[in-house]
This record gives sequence, structure tokens and C-alpha cells, in this order.
Amino acid sequence: MSKSSVSGVQNKVVIVTGCSSGIGLATARLFLDRQALVFGIDVGAIPQKLADEHNTFTFHRANLTNSGAVDEAVSQCHQQYGRVDVLVNCAGVSDGWSSADSIHEDEWERVMAINLTVPIRLMKAVLPFMKDQKGGAIVNVASKAGVSGAAAGIAYTASKHGLVGATKNVAWRFHQDGIRCNGVLPGGVATDIASSVQMDHFDPAGFNAFFPIVQMHVSKDSEGTPVPVIGVDDVARGIAFLASDESKMINGALIPIDNAWSTI
Ligand SMILES: NC(=O)c1ccc[n+]([C@@H]2O[C@H](COP(=O)([O-])OP(=O)(O)OC[C@H]3O[C@@H](n4cnc5c(N)ncnc54)[C@H](O)[C@@H]3O)[C@@H](O)[C@H]2O)c1
Repeated sequence: MSKSSVSGVQNKVVIVTGCSSGIGLATARLFLDRQALVFGIDVGAIPQKLADEHNTFTFHRANLTNSGAVDEAVSQCHQQYGRVDVLVNCAGVSDGWSSADSIHEDEWERVMAINLTVPIRLMKAVLPFMKDQKGGAIVNVASKAGVSGAAAGIAYTASKHGLVGATKNVAWRFHQDGIRCNGVLPGGVATDIASSVQMDHFDPAGFNAFFPIVQMHVSKDSEGTPVPVIGVDDVARGIAFLASDESKMINGALIPIDNAWSTI
């Protein structure tokens, strides 16, 4: 059996949101390396190296929170390839550690919009195609904060708990249509996500309450600065497994990728 046939994603049409950076970029690259056709979406710049190296990569630039942006992106993907086999909901932002006593309305709306509303809109947009095809796989990138109250601020925590619930709901509702919906729960990963924190909504008291928990699963450099031990490729491999035929009876699962942080 060849290496590529073991991966179980070759020739699949895969939508990856947040493909310009971090986990989404690593995921897009891994799918391309495994001979999938990737339709990447991001509000940021095109990942030029991916585009240069893979003619099986299409980039669609969009702010997915804009009205109509999700439907337009999915319809462009379907027009181009005639099907959608996999959706990876990866685009997301961090909150500024605000708590129930400090959360600002704008911060709540911003985080919920991209972390929860957009993934649900994307699932709604791809499901008719997956139903017609009698198959498909959705992988939602949630977080340890999707199952813990002690890993982030209230907006991020609520958005990721919401995404966990949506994942299970979609899995059960469509399991007889050959459609699977799973999620990953990464621990801290070294990416650009800190740049999405809006510092005018940063809550130091919230940060101080949660940071000791985060520190329990990171390493430290020689100066004592926390360094994540989980890499973007570690998360990408988990996503690719859940999207592939290798996991065909795994449906509604939320897999921690956090080197045992989930055990506490
Ligand atoms: N980095 C971590 O420690 C960590 C841990 C657990 C879960 N996650 C989750 O992983 C996912 C990816 O995050 P990352 O760490 O790779 O961060 P990142 O900032 O490196 O990448 C996120 C990408 O999403 C894109 N994006 C943000 N808002 C968008 C919008 N409105 N429309 C389109 N694209 C948009 C950004 O431009 C960026 O390219 C997120 O859902 C995040 O919550 C990250």
C-alpha cells in the first residue's frame, strides 16, 4: 500500500479556514502534501509559499464574519471542484482574558462571531453538498477552553464550549447521511494567535487567574518564559486523521491534543 493511500485524504476537496497562519497553515500544507485539493480561506494575506509550491491550492481572501462571505466562499469552492468532501473550521481569535465582571459587548460579539457563528454558518453551507454526495467530514478546531472553565477568558471559553456542543449536535443529526463531525481540543500552541488579542479589552485580573493553569502544560526557556510544547504540525496531523477515511467510525469525538493537559 503506498504512503499516500494510507493517509486517506487524496483527491478530497478540503476547505480550510484560517489557512494563512498557525494551525490552519500547517493543516493546509499537510493536506496538500497528502494529495488533497485545498480551498483555503483567510482574511489575511495569501500563504505565498503554499500557492507557489502546489497548483492544487486555491486561496480565497475573505473576512468570514462579513454578511454573505461564508456562502460566497463555499459556492466558489463548489463551482471550482464540483464537491466539498472536508471542512476544517480553524479560523479563530483569542479574547483578552475578560471575565463575567469585565467583558465588553464588542469583545463578546467579535469573539463569538468568528469562533462560533462562522463555523456554524460554514457547516450550514457545506451540508447540502455533503448530503447530496452522501458523505463528508467536518473537523472543528475547538480548544482545551472548550471543555475547561480555567483556560481562557469568558468569551473564548463560551465560544469554544459552543463549538464543542455544535460538533456533537451535527454529528448525531447527520450520522445517517454518511457525514461525520469531530473536533480537536489543542492545548497551547506557538502561533500568531496572541496578535488577535485586542489590548483595550485585556483584563489583567482574568489573565492572572487563568495563566497558572496554562503554565501547567508548557515548557520554559532558560529565562523562565513559557514555551508551548505542542507544535502546529501535531494539531494538523490530528485534524487530518479525523478528516480521513482512517477514522470513518469516529463521529462526534473531541480529541485533546495537549500532551495530557486534559487529564487535569
Ligand atoms: N494557538 C493556540 O494555543 C490554540 C490553542 C487551542 C485552540 N486554538 C485554535 O486554533 C485555531 C487557529 O488558531 P492559531 O493558533 O493558528 O492562530 P493564528 O492567529 O496563527 O491563525 C488564525 C487565522 O485565522 C484567521 N482569521 C481570523 N479571523 C478571521 C476572519 N474573520 N475571517 C477569516 N479568517 C480569519 C487569521 O487571519 C489567521 O490567519 C483557532 O480557532 C484557535 O482558537 C489555538
